[in-house]
Amino acid sequence: MSLVVEGLSKRYSKNMKALNGLSFSVQEGECLGIVGESGSGKSTLARVLLGLETYKEGSISYNGKPIAPKSRSQLREYRKSVQMIFQDSTSSLNPKLPIWKSVLEPLDNFKELTPSFLPLQTNNRREVAEGLLEIVGLEKHMADRYPGELSGGQKQRVSIARAISIEPSLLICDEPTASLDVTVQVQILQLLKELQKTTNMTILFISHDIRAVTYLCEKVMVLKNGTLVDQFSLEALYHHERHPYTKALVQAATLE
Ligand SMILES: Nc1ncnc2c1ncn2[C@@H]1O[C@H](COP(=O)(O)OP(=O)(O)O)[C@@H](O)[C@H]1O
Ligand SMILES: [Mg+2]
Repeated sequence: MSLVVEGLSKRYSKNMKALNGLSFSVQEGECLGIVGESGSGKSTLARVLLGLETYKEGSISYNGKPIAPKSRSQLREYRKSVQMIFQDSTSSLNPKLPIWKSVLEPLDNFKELTPSFLPLQTNNRREVAEGLLEIVGLEKHMADRYPGELSGGQKQRVSIARAISIEPSLLICDEPTASLDVTVQVQILQLLKELQKTTNMTILFISHDIRAVTYLCEKVMVLKNGTLVDQFSLEALYHHERHPYTKALVQAATLE
């Protein structure tokens, strides 16, 4: 898996660039963090990368093939290997479905597939769903619950189970912990870290919180007003050559 972005810009209107000439790449098994304050363009980037939003300048290629929002068939191929987790799991889970059915939604398109990381001998859908729920730390007996009967952290676990079900090569997480209590945030980050090790998927982790990003990711990019102002590996976080904005983010996080 490789994702290469070159000179990517996105405008919503003539005089406002939501993304401004971004260039970066992610390789297989890496965890790349993107941090920036609200309005810096993080969600726009996530949507563009998923092909949910068009762009006119720059290029995105996945495994050497261009991802262009207008090429439907390529997008369909690409979406098989890319999954997304959003901040608000409430709106991404169908309130009328018990969670075990929600978990199976992506897999329903690939009837013959059983996630290879599950120790299952069966292709029984209910058991696959229970296996997925267990792997994200939800007990079997919760399978028949509805989203409305779960806490925020539990709902986010369901979203994660669903996202990893088709063993995506790339998982894009847009502020997945932003609406959770601090202790639950840590649990979800730990879960993502474990799953990344088991599945070797690549994670693009987007957050306004530099602590969450540095907990999970070995590579970090800093986005400010749509521009990448800093890119570094985790061990260089405290180096003096960090961009002043990165330093400000680190300092603000220490004060909290
Ligand atoms: N659909 C849209 N139409 C017009 N402007 C938008 C739209 N979505 C986002 N923006 C603007 O683009 C900028 C980046 O927004 P966003 O990507 O949501 O940032 P973040 O996720 O970092 O908070 C903001 O100025 C926002 O107002
Ligand atoms: Mg956002």
